[in-house]
Amino acid sequence: MLVRVKSAANAPNAYQTRQRAVAAMATGIDGVPIHVAYTAEEHHTRAHAHTLLAPVWEQYAALPVRAAAQALDLPPDQIPQLAQVTGRLQVLTGFRYASVAGTVGGAEFFGALARRVFPSTQFIRWSGNSEYTPEPDVLHEIGGHANVLAHPQLASLHVLAGQASVAAPALLTQIAAVFWYSVEFGVVHSSAGWKAYGAGLLSSPGELGWFTQHAEIRPLDIADMLDTPYDISSFQPVLFGADSLDHVVDIVGGYFTSLIHHAPITSSY
Ligand SMILES: [Fe+2]
Repeated sequence: MLVRVKSAANAPNAYQTRQRAVAAMATGIDGVPIHVAYTAEEHHTRAHAHTLLAPVWEQYAALPVRAAAQALDLPPDQIPQLAQVTGRLQVLTGFRYASVAGTVGGAEFFGALARRVFPSTQFIRWSGNSEYTPEPDVLHEIGGHANVLAHPQLASLHVLAGQASVAAPALLTQIAAVFWYSVEFGVVHSSAGWKAYGAGLLSSPGELGWFTQHAEIRPLDIADMLDTPYDISSFQPVLFGADSLDHVVDIVGGYFTSLIHHAPITSSY
Protein backbone atom coordinates (compact mmCIF):
# COMPACT_ATOMS: atom_id res chain seq x y z
CA MET A 1 0.00 0.00 0.00
CA LEU A 2 1.68 3.19 -1.19
CA VAL A 3 0.55 6.44 0.43
CA ARG A 4 1.73 9.49 -1.52
CA VAL A 5 2.23 12.78 0.29
CA LYS A 6 1.93 16.35 -0.91
CA SER A 7 4.90 18.67 -1.22
CA ALA A 8 4.99 22.41 -0.50
CA ALA A 9 4.49 22.95 -4.24
CA ASN A 10 0.78 22.37 -3.52
CA ALA A 11 0.67 25.15 -0.95
CA PRO A 12 -0.89 28.57 -1.62
CA ASN A 13 1.34 31.34 -3.02
CA ALA A 14 1.21 33.32 0.24
CA TYR A 15 2.67 30.31 2.09
CA GLN A 16 5.42 29.86 -0.47
CA THR A 17 6.35 33.56 -0.25
CA ARG A 18 6.58 33.31 3.55
CA GLN A 19 8.60 30.06 3.31
CA ARG A 20 11.13 31.80 1.02
CA ALA A 21 11.33 34.78 3.41
CA VAL A 22 12.10 32.56 6.41
CA ALA A 23 14.55 30.49 4.35
CA ALA A 24 16.36 33.72 3.43
CA MET A 25 17.08 34.32 7.14
CA ALA A 26 19.29 31.22 7.31
CA THR A 27 22.82 31.96 8.48
CA GLY A 28 24.39 28.66 7.45
CA ILE A 29 26.11 25.83 9.25
CA ASP A 30 28.77 28.00 10.89
CA GLY A 31 26.45 30.92 11.68
CA VAL A 32 24.27 31.81 14.63
CA PRO A 33 20.56 31.36 13.80
CA ILE A 34 18.47 34.53 13.61
CA HIS A 35 15.35 34.83 15.78
CA VAL A 36 12.27 34.31 13.58
CA ALA A 37 9.11 36.20 14.53
CA TYR A 38 6.59 33.47 13.79
CA THR A 39 2.99 34.38 13.12
CA ALA A 40 0.08 33.19 15.25
CA GLU A 41 -0.95 30.92 12.36
CA GLU A 42 2.51 29.31 12.27
CA HIS A 43 2.46 28.69 16.02
CA HIS A 44 -1.02 27.25 15.57
CA THR A 45 0.27 24.80 12.93
CA ARG A 46 2.84 23.57 15.48
CA ALA A 47 0.22 23.32 18.25
CA HIS A 48 -2.19 21.48 15.95
CA ALA A 49 0.53 19.02 14.92
CA HIS A 50 1.27 18.40 18.59
CA THR A 51 -2.41 17.70 19.22
CA LEU A 52 -2.34 15.11 16.44
CA LEU A 53 1.01 13.65 17.50
CA ALA A 54 0.48 13.38 21.27
CA PRO A 55 -1.85 10.33 21.20
CA VAL A 56 0.17 8.48 18.55
CA TRP A 57 3.42 9.21 20.41
CA GLU A 58 1.80 7.73 23.48
CA GLN A 59 1.11 4.54 21.53
CA TYR A 60 3.96 4.24 19.07
CA ALA A 61 7.02 6.30 20.14
CA ALA A 62 9.83 4.26 21.70
CA LEU A 63 9.99 4.74 25.46
CA PRO A 64 13.62 6.00 25.52
CA VAL A 65 12.72 8.70 22.97
CA ARG A 66 9.69 9.75 25.00
CA ALA A 67 11.96 10.11 28.02
CA ALA A 68 14.46 12.13 25.94
CA ALA A 69 11.65 14.41 24.71
CA GLN A 70 10.61 15.00 28.31
CA ALA A 71 14.19 15.89 29.20
CA LEU A 72 14.37 18.28 26.23
CA ASP A 73 11.08 19.79 27.35
CA LEU A 74 10.29 22.04 24.38
CA PRO A 75 6.97 23.92 24.39
CA PRO A 76 4.29 22.00 22.45
CA ASP A 77 2.15 25.02 21.59
CA GLN A 78 4.69 27.28 19.90
CA ILE A 79 7.61 26.96 17.49
CA PRO A 80 10.84 27.02 19.49
CA GLN A 81 13.70 29.19 18.28
CA LEU A 82 16.79 27.23 17.18
CA ALA A 83 18.81 28.99 19.90
CA GLN A 84 16.40 27.57 22.47
CA VAL A 85 16.80 24.06 21.00
CA THR A 86 20.58 24.42 21.10
CA GLY A 87 20.50 25.64 24.69
CA ARG A 88 18.69 22.49 25.82
CA LEU A 89 20.57 20.01 23.61
CA GLN A 90 23.99 21.32 24.63
CA VAL A 91 23.31 20.18 28.17
CA LEU A 92 21.96 16.78 27.13
CA THR A 93 24.16 15.63 24.23
CA GLY A 94 26.25 18.60 23.08
CA PHE A 95 24.41 19.19 19.78
CA ARG A 96 23.98 22.64 18.27
CA TYR A 97 21.31 23.71 15.74
CA ALA A 98 22.33 25.78 12.71
CA SER A 99 19.90 27.41 10.27
CA VAL A 100 19.88 26.46 6.58
CA ALA A 101 17.56 27.54 3.77
CA GLY A 102 16.39 24.04 2.83
CA THR A 103 17.73 20.60 2.05
CA VAL A 104 21.52 20.70 2.03
CA GLY A 105 23.81 18.35 0.12
CA GLY A 106 24.72 15.03 1.71
CA ALA A 107 28.39 15.87 2.27
CA GLU A 108 27.49 19.16 3.96
CA PHE A 109 24.72 17.63 6.06
CA PHE A 110 26.67 14.61 7.29
CA GLY A 111 29.86 16.68 7.67
CA ALA A 112 27.96 18.94 10.09
CA LEU A 113 26.67 15.96 12.07
CA ALA A 114 30.27 14.82 12.57
CA ARG A 115 30.80 18.11 14.47
CA ARG A 116 27.56 17.74 16.46
CA VAL A 117 25.90 20.45 14.41
CA PHE A 118 22.37 19.81 13.09
CA PRO A 119 21.48 21.81 9.93
CA SER A 120 17.85 22.85 10.33
CA THR A 121 15.32 24.85 8.36
CA GLN A 122 13.32 27.42 10.31
CA PHE A 123 10.06 27.48 8.35
CA ILE A 124 7.07 25.35 9.21
CA ARG A 125 5.08 23.30 6.72
CA TRP A 126 1.87 24.59 5.20
CA SER A 127 -1.04 23.85 7.53
CA GLY A 128 -2.70 21.78 4.77
CA ASN A 129 0.26 19.36 4.88
CA SER A 130 0.30 18.76 8.61
CA GLU A 131 0.51 14.94 8.44
CA TYR A 132 3.79 14.65 6.52
CA THR A 133 5.87 16.57 3.98
CA PRO A 134 8.91 15.32 2.06
CA GLU A 135 10.59 18.71 2.61
CA PRO A 136 12.40 19.46 5.87
CA ASP A 137 10.59 21.87 8.23
CA VAL A 138 10.70 22.68 11.93
CA LEU A 139 8.10 20.03 12.79
CA HIS A 140 10.50 17.41 11.46
CA GLU A 141 13.80 19.03 12.45
CA ILE A 142 12.69 19.79 16.01
CA GLY A 143 9.69 17.53 16.73
CA GLY A 144 11.57 14.64 15.13
CA HIS A 145 15.35 15.13 15.25
CA ALA A 146 15.74 17.33 18.33
CA ASN A 147 13.81 14.85 20.45
CA VAL A 148 15.96 12.02 19.06
CA LEU A 149 19.14 14.08 19.49
CA ALA A 150 18.27 14.49 23.17
CA HIS A 151 18.96 10.76 23.58
CA PRO A 152 22.70 10.04 23.98
CA GLN A 153 22.79 6.76 22.01
CA LEU A 154 20.73 8.17 19.15
CA ALA A 155 22.73 11.42 19.13
CA SER A 156 25.88 9.33 18.81
CA LEU A 157 24.39 7.52 15.79
CA HIS A 158 24.00 10.91 14.06
CA VAL A 159 27.65 11.68 14.86
CA LEU A 160 28.91 8.29 13.68
CA ALA A 161 27.03 8.69 10.37
CA GLY A 162 28.71 12.08 9.98
CA GLN A 163 32.15 10.73 10.81
CA ALA A 164 31.61 7.85 8.37
CA SER A 165 30.79 10.36 5.61
CA VAL A 166 34.03 12.19 6.28
CA ALA A 167 36.08 8.98 6.33
CA ALA A 168 34.38 7.38 3.32
CA PRO A 169 32.90 10.17 1.12
CA ALA A 170 32.58 7.80 -1.83
CA LEU A 171 30.04 5.80 0.19
CA LEU A 172 27.73 8.73 0.93
CA THR A 173 24.76 7.10 -0.83
CA GLN A 174 25.11 3.97 1.27
CA ILE A 175 25.54 5.98 4.48
CA ALA A 176 22.42 8.00 3.61
CA ALA A 177 20.43 4.79 3.02
CA VAL A 178 21.42 3.29 6.38
CA PHE A 179 20.74 6.65 8.06
CA TRP A 180 17.31 6.71 6.39
CA TYR A 181 16.32 3.26 7.62
CA SER A 182 17.59 3.86 11.16
CA VAL A 183 17.87 7.47 12.35
CA GLU A 184 14.98 8.60 10.14
CA PHE A 185 12.64 5.60 10.03
CA GLY A 186 13.92 3.08 12.55
CA VAL A 187 11.61 1.00 14.72
CA VAL A 188 12.37 -1.08 17.76
CA HIS A 189 10.61 -4.04 19.31
CA SER A 190 8.92 -3.77 22.70
CA SER A 191 6.64 -6.03 24.73
CA ALA A 192 3.77 -3.85 23.46
CA GLY A 193 4.72 -4.15 19.77
CA TRP A 194 6.82 -2.07 17.39
CA LYS A 195 7.76 1.45 18.47
CA ALA A 196 9.42 4.22 16.46
CA TYR A 197 12.77 5.82 17.25
CA GLY A 198 13.28 7.40 13.80
CA ALA A 199 12.78 11.15 13.43
CA GLY A 200 10.76 10.78 10.21
CA LEU A 201 8.14 8.60 11.85
CA LEU A 202 8.14 10.58 15.09
CA SER A 203 7.33 13.84 13.28
CA SER A 204 4.54 12.43 11.11
CA PRO A 205 1.13 12.12 12.79
CA GLY A 206 -0.11 10.20 9.74
CA GLU A 207 2.75 7.73 9.29
CA LEU A 208 3.37 7.09 13.00
CA GLY A 209 -0.11 5.65 13.34
CA TRP A 210 0.09 3.94 9.95
CA PHE A 211 3.32 1.92 10.04
CA THR A 212 2.34 -0.79 12.50
CA GLN A 213 -0.59 -1.82 10.32
CA HIS A 214 0.82 -1.33 6.86
CA ALA A 215 4.63 -1.37 6.72
CA GLU A 216 6.63 -4.55 6.23
CA ILE A 217 9.09 -4.67 9.12
CA ARG A 218 12.25 -6.59 8.25
CA PRO A 219 15.10 -7.72 10.50
CA LEU A 220 17.84 -5.14 11.03
CA ASP A 221 20.26 -5.91 8.23
CA ILE A 222 22.69 -3.46 6.61
CA ALA A 223 22.97 -5.35 3.32
CA ASP A 224 19.18 -5.47 2.97
CA MET A 225 18.96 -1.71 3.72
CA LEU A 226 21.51 -1.04 0.99
CA ASP A 227 19.51 -3.17 -1.46
CA THR A 228 16.15 -1.54 -0.66
CA PRO A 229 15.42 1.72 -2.52
CA TYR A 230 13.35 4.33 -0.70
CA ASP A 231 11.02 7.09 -1.86
CA ILE A 232 10.83 10.22 0.28
CA SER A 233 7.51 11.26 -1.25
CA SER A 234 5.45 8.42 0.23
CA PHE A 235 4.94 6.67 3.55
CA GLN A 236 7.61 3.98 3.89
CA PRO A 237 6.33 0.52 2.90
CA VAL A 238 9.47 -1.19 4.27
CA LEU A 239 11.05 -0.54 7.67
CA PHE A 240 13.83 -2.28 9.60
CA GLY A 241 13.17 -3.36 13.18
CA ALA A 242 15.70 -3.77 15.98
CA ASP A 243 15.43 -5.78 19.20
CA SER A 244 16.52 -2.75 21.27
CA LEU A 245 18.40 0.53 20.94
CA ASP A 246 21.55 -1.38 21.96
CA HIS A 247 20.92 -3.59 18.93
CA VAL A 248 20.66 -0.48 16.72
CA VAL A 249 23.92 0.88 18.10
CA ASP A 250 25.56 -2.51 17.61
CA ILE A 251 24.48 -3.01 13.98
CA VAL A 252 24.04 0.51 12.58
CA GLY A 253 26.68 2.14 14.77
CA GLY A 254 28.95 -0.81 13.95
CA TYR A 255 28.48 -0.23 10.21
CA PHE A 256 29.31 3.48 10.48
CA THR A 257 32.30 2.68 12.72
CA SER A 258 33.57 0.16 10.18
CA LEU A 259 33.57 2.94 7.55
CA ILE A 260 35.34 5.33 9.93
CA HIS A 261 38.08 2.71 10.23
CA HIS A 262 38.16 2.17 6.44
CA ALA A 263 36.88 -1.38 6.57
CA PRO A 264 33.59 -1.36 4.59
CA ILE A 265 31.36 -4.29 5.43
CA THR A 266 29.46 -5.54 2.39
CA SER A 267 28.05 -8.80 3.68
CA SER A 268 24.84 -9.23 5.67
CA TYR A 269 25.07 -9.03 9.46
FE1 LIG B 1 15.39 14.07 8.92
